[in-house]
Amino acid sequence: MEPPRTRIDWPGRHAALLDVERASQSTCDPIFQPDPARHTLIRGDNLEALKLLVPSLERKIRVIYIDPPYNTGNGLLYNDRFGSRGRDGDRHASWLSMIAPRLLLASRFLRDDGIFFASIDDRELPRLRMLCDEFFGEENFIPMVVWRKKVVRGRGNRHILPQTEYILAYARNINALAPFRENLTHKMKAEYLHHDERGPYKKIPLAKSGTRQSPRPNLYYPLTAPDGSEIPCPTHQWRWSRETVENRKDEILIEKNRKGRWTVYTKQYLRSPTGEERGRTPESYYDRVTTSDGTAEMKELFGEVVLDFPKPSRLVRDLIAWATPPGSCDPVMDFFAGSGSTGQAVLELNAADGGSRPFYLIQSDDPIPHQEFRSIYEICRGRVERVIKKLEKEGKSPLPIREYRVSPIP
Ligand SMILES: C[S@@+](CC[C@H](N)C(=O)[O-])C[C@H]1O[C@@H](n2cnc3c(N)ncnc32)[C@H](O)[C@@H]1O
Repeated sequence: MEPPRTRIDWPGRHAALLDVERASQSTCDPIFQPDPARHTLIRGDNLEALKLLVPSLERKIRVIYIDPPYNTGNGLLYNDRFGSRGRDGDRHASWLSMIAPRLLLASRFLRDDGIFFASIDDRELPRLRMLCDEFFGEENFIPMVVWRKKVVRGRGNRHILPQTEYILAYARNINALAPFRENLTHKMKAEYLHHDERGPYKKIPLAKSGTRQSPRPNLYYPLTAPDGSEIPCPTHQWRWSRETVENRKDEILIEKNRKGRWTVYTKQYLRSPTGEERGRTPESYYDRVTTSDGTAEMKELFGEVVLDFPKPSRLVRDLIAWATPPGSCDPVMDFFAGSGSTGQAVLELNAADGGSRPFYLIQSDDPIPHQEFRSIYEICRGRVERVIKKLEKEGKSPLPIREYRVSPIP
């Protein structure tokens, strides 16, 4: 018998999850045709759209990024207040009933080497984490990104000013997900200031620093200096075993330091023998852009802020760049597309690295009070069209767009 699992329960869970199995009550116009040579924009409710897309895109998506309503209770252009305390249970239950079927469906779109990212703040973080643990498997959890979205102090809390939010990340199958990489910064590259026939390198002490916990006896031994004297290990252990030092002699440097003591280094080369530049593993703390960059981007494209708090496209672009190789054609999906920052991220990443990743963006068509844009969907399309025009002016050839409309069967 399977051991009982820890899972999150709420009034309405059963009905919400049963909904996933119900056939869609909507139609797609025109009939959906997956086309990796185009970007896809879908206007309509995402649950209905996801149901209609499953047969063609099941296990075909490499990256899903979503930025769902956070349940702040604030009046935004879209509904961000779930539940009415009195009648239909609490606001968390109502939010969970919205998000749960969509997450369950989302997991079906991911390829085996796929990755799911979800932005969230601390209001619904614990519930989203539990749901994702259940649907994706806790073993597929990847360290969460903490995004510093604000640097100004702001107002609104007398105890701790909230300046961060989070990006949960889950692999479809942690064993199939390739390591994330990103380029070294200019500052990091500048550290490779030595040079030999294999190219630039930096010197790293062979003596391991840090904790003494569980020292390994095979890493504690004396080395021999060029003058024949013995060099005892100056810390609790070396980083390489005696055999590795022997096998990689060319990468060992033994030099006298300022005090006249022998010091042992390894050479860390900037490029691999095949010429590939070293990358680095991204870190969980992200502070490269803030919400104001997202707003500025929108002003630049539209001349005004047509939607509050859009994500800066650089943030989404970095996530996609970590997870997909340069020049790739891996499909990306965002089914809470909002103003289309994920669309901009994919378009600009493709333009920068020669990739042709197609995106699938889904955004509801609920009316908004704006003269030019009748819905957030139209803002999304407007952004994508503007970015495509800008890139074409720069001589790039982004993939063309195809639009669909998902609407209830009359
Ligand atoms: C937090 S916003 C996304 C913002 C977006 N990342 C951006 O940078 O502009 C969430 C979006 O999801 C949309 N949305 C909410 N429920 C939806 C549904 N059932 N189907 C489709 N879109 C939905 C809202 O209209 C809103 O634009």
